[in-house]
Amino acid sequence: MAEPWARNQRLHPTLSNLLPEGSLRELITQGLKVHIDNEFHILSYLGADLPGALVAEPMEPEDVPETVLNTHGKARAIKFDKVSPENKFSLAGVQMKFSMKEKDGRYNLSKGDVLGDWIIKIPSTKHKDVPLNEYTAMKLAALVGIDIPEIKLVELNKLDNLPQINLPNEKLAFAIKRFDRDGDVRIHMEDFAQVLVKYPHEKYNSANYEQIARIIYGFSGDGLADAQQFARRLLVNILLANGDAHLKNWSLIYSDQITPRLSLAYDIVTTSVYIDDERHFALNLGKTKEWHDVSLANFQSWAGRAEIPWRAIKPHLDDVIERARNLWPDAIKDLPMNEAHKLKLKDHWGNLQEDFRINK
Ligand SMILES: Nc1ncnc2c1ncn2[C@@H]1O[C@H](COP(=O)(O)OP(=O)(O)OP(=O)(O)O)[C@@H](O)[C@H]1O
Ligand SMILES: [Mg+2]
Repeated sequence: MAEPWARNQRLHPTLSNLLPEGSLRELITQGLKVHIDNEFHILSYLGADLPGALVAEPMEPEDVPETVLNTHGKARAIKFDKVSPENKFSLAGVQMKFSMKEKDGRYNLSKGDVLGDWIIKIPSTKHKDVPLNEYTAMKLAALVGIDIPEIKLVELNKLDNLPQINLPNEKLAFAIKRFDRDGDVRIHMEDFAQVLVKYPHEKYNSANYEQIARIIYGFSGDGLADAQQFARRLLVNILLANGDAHLKNWSLIYSDQITPRLSLAYDIVTTSVYIDDERHFALNLGKTKEWHDVSLANFQSWAGRAEIPWRAIKPHLDDVIERARNLWPDAIKDLPMNEAHKLKLKDHWGNLQEDFRINK
């Protein structure tokens, strides 16, 4: 806000992080016939249905102030061509997904000013059974005290008006209720790439879990409760071999429009089943990233650096590991994860340090 931000392509991180990254971005830019890096054009197209509560509206060219046009050489304001209103929602992230409105068990791609209330993540042509994996991992997480939104597996034939996209031979999509929507009301949220003013491509290498924890503890409306929940999620990501808990997979939500709280959990997936010899989680925690080395001592060092009292964290980690040991070996039998993936996950449990090891 202090000075104009004039760039050729890229938006400021606060806005850039609201746009899709992977296959959804390709789909949208192909439809728009603009280059994949042309973020300004993408934002102007998707601005009415962004994650959280921000709305971006194009100005009339004649209303753009001279001062803005002069900040970047000599520029002229133009109006973008109107194109057909398809896929006019924005969701961040790499996987193909849609914001859809549920009615009587069917899901419709939201059009016009109807806001979607579910995120539907369709199966991947690259990785097998991701929806079953994510559903299982999220359910296991909930069993050890992780706060998650409502989730479902939905048959693909219940999804209406999807664009033409490649689908593998799988029948189910993963559905998660949007916590930034409540009927027609938008609830503001921001992910930790936005909080730390980093671009999406910096999501793995520009921060660590101490920094996130310090912000949560210092700024949340209930810093201690959210730091405790954050600690639980860090441990769950280790136990479930989720190597993808980068900056954009953590968000703050502003339910009263003012006070940040840690949002419900999302995108917990056993990623190690897709990546050969995956050994690392996403960001540093108490100086390590190694699943097979990490122990309670790293968590204690993490808490120390984040200046959160260890005595307030330790009982939550103890509770997670105790519940995981008691509940998961049975619970996983009834969950829909692919059998080969279950075996890999259970191997992972046996390879963790003693503090966190789980017997199958
Ligand atoms: N239940 C939810 N309610 C609101 N927003 C959500 C919800 N789940 C996810 N999001 C938002 O949508 C984005 C994409 O979701 P998600 O992280 O599950 O997708 P992804 O493509 O698997 O991500 P990645 O690129 O990390 O693999 C998240 O970064 C978050 O901003
Ligand atoms: Mg994600």
